Amino acid sequence: MRVWSGLLAVVLVAGCGAPAAVDPGVERLSARAPARVDPSLLARSLTAVQPGWPRPPVTINCRKVKCVALTFDDGPGDFTPWLLDELRKSGVKATFFVVGQMVAADRHHTLPRMLAEGHELGNHTWSHAELPSLADEGIVRELGRTQELVRKITGVRMQMMRPPYGSTDRRVAEESRRLGMAQILWSVDTHDWRDRVAKVVAKRACRATRGSIVLMHDIHRTTVEAVPEVISALAGKGYRFVTISELYGKPPTPGRKYSEL
Ligand code: NI
Repeated sequence: MRVWSGLLAVVLVAGCGAPAAVDPGVERLSARAPARVDPSLLARSLTAVQPGWPRPPVTINCRKVKCVALTFDDGPGDFTPWLLDELRKSGVKATFFVVGQMVAADRHHTLPRMLAEGHELGNHTWSHAELPSLADEGIVRELGRTQELVRKITGVRMQMMRPPYGSTDRRVAEESRRLGMAQILWSVDTHDWRDRVAKVVAKRACRATRGSIVLMHDIHRTTVEAVPEVISALAGKGYRFVTISELYGKPPTPGRKYSEL
């Protein structure tokens, strides 16, 4: 595996692409110093009970313009604040599928910051369990416990879940539906958990096409390192970065499975 990763790194060292084609808007924003989250925004997000549809998709119609949704799983982790700095510099909004245990251990108050900065949250279970292997009660516990904690911290009731390993079945769909969450899979897998080489991760993310949902993990340093290149390359190809709700332009249907537009 390591050898293979090394080979890939050499082969793909050119990364995803055309730095010269960077969107000037993105470049201009990138020049700004990383900003810390505004405490007043943080306070507002902590007190505002949002109905799980934080930003109505009034500005972007992804049926008409080229959109891509960057999604980050398994956090929040120690690299997530750095990732949020990178996203903020470029004005890019993303969707985070959080693990309850990670939220409980989070020392950075990451979730309120994510919401204050326009990102969306989804439920990635409490312990990253393979849901179809559990009894119905276990599925409900894995999803419900995370739902409860995130609601307590942020006031938000998440309307999306992502089953760990993409592993789902009829019972997982049914319990997700009961809990009011759509199942969000992906169409572009960066395998960033396996190949810890930023250039490789960036190259794979850049395979996105119109309406893609890109899977990454914010718990890896190399993934965060890859993100500026992913953003500049895809922006250079004319893509707009949207959250999952914006991608579909309406709240996803609870229980239903989505993997791209
Ligand atoms: Ni995961």
